[in-house]
Amino acid sequence: MQLKDKLVLITGSNRGIGLGFAKEAHSRGARLLLAIRSPSELKLDWADERVETIALDMSSKESIERFLSDSRLNEVDILINNAGQLTGGLLESQDLDQIYSMFQVNLVGLIHLTRAMMLKLINRPEGMIVNNASVSGVMHLPCTTTYTAAKTGVVAFSSSLRQDLKGTKIKVLTLITPGVKTRMFDEIAPKYSKHMDVSSITSITTEEYAKRVMNAIEKNKKVLSPGGLEGIGCFMARHFPLLFERIASSQFKR
Ligand SMILES: NC(=O)c1ccc[n+]([C@@H]2O[C@H](COP(=O)([O-])OP(=O)(O)OC[C@H]3O[C@@H](n4cnc5c(N)ncnc54)[C@H](OP(=O)(O)O)[C@@H]3O)[C@@H](O)[C@H]2O)c1
Repeated sequence: MQLKDKLVLITGSNRGIGLGFAKEAHSRGARLLLAIRSPSELKLDWADERVETIALDMSSKESIERFLSDSRLNEVDILINNAGQLTGGLLESQDLDQIYSMFQVNLVGLIHLTRAMMLKLINRPEGMIVNNASVSGVMHLPCTTTYTAAKTGVVAFSSSLRQDLKGTKIKVLTLITPGVKTRMFDEIAPKYSKHMDVSSITSITTEEYAKRVMNAIEKNKKVLSPGGLEGIGCFMARHFPLLFERIASSQFKR
């Protein structure tokens, strides 16, 4: 699906990967609706009249419902579900409120938004839903219990939805996102390094990842998987799950 002149709605687009997506889609001629928690605080020095903001807090059902009443959403061609939070460490050490919030933002809110937006996308000449999952949705590593459960949910939801939407003009793209250098990526070491060696985890830039994702949208890909070591890890986790678990847990100390 070509991005030029399409209206792209991106959640969590004030920083990190979402901001990278916004700038790359804009450079390819898309119009943007940036759905973020605090629009008034956003500096848009790179933007022009093709960029608008809209308030959305994905941790609140009420905020999502309020957001959905905005008539600009009727024109959206591509929804990118990107907003996310990270939980990690041993399960008993994770804050319970943060676990609830993470599931709400990463999975339940994403489903709520998608459910409503697909009924709008169905009226467009063509539409696409892009779900930012993670390698954690495929590789279930120690210390990631809750985050990996939510992201596995996103992968499963996307795969099932793609089949539900067969015969419509809406496509679904699942992003098996690798390490990308953002604030969230910087949170990984403090959360996990007490129990495992995280020194070999690598990351790419938001700019590079945004290019890959926009290429995948323009090529109508169904799943964007990582290459390199993370690609091999995902292959192992899918095809040899018990062997993968044995290798992954050998790096772990409780
Ligand atoms: N970075 C990686 O290595 C990596 C790897 C795999 C998958 N991912 C996924 O990629 C997505 C983006 O991550 P990132 O690395 O760019 O993280 P980030 O830099 O921490 O950015 C997270 C984004 O989500 C937004 N967000 C958080 N809670 C929200 C809420 N309640 N309502 C609305 N927006 C909310 C943040 O907005 P505020 O500024 O308002 O907090 C921010 O825009 C996430 O879904 C993440 O799980 C990232």
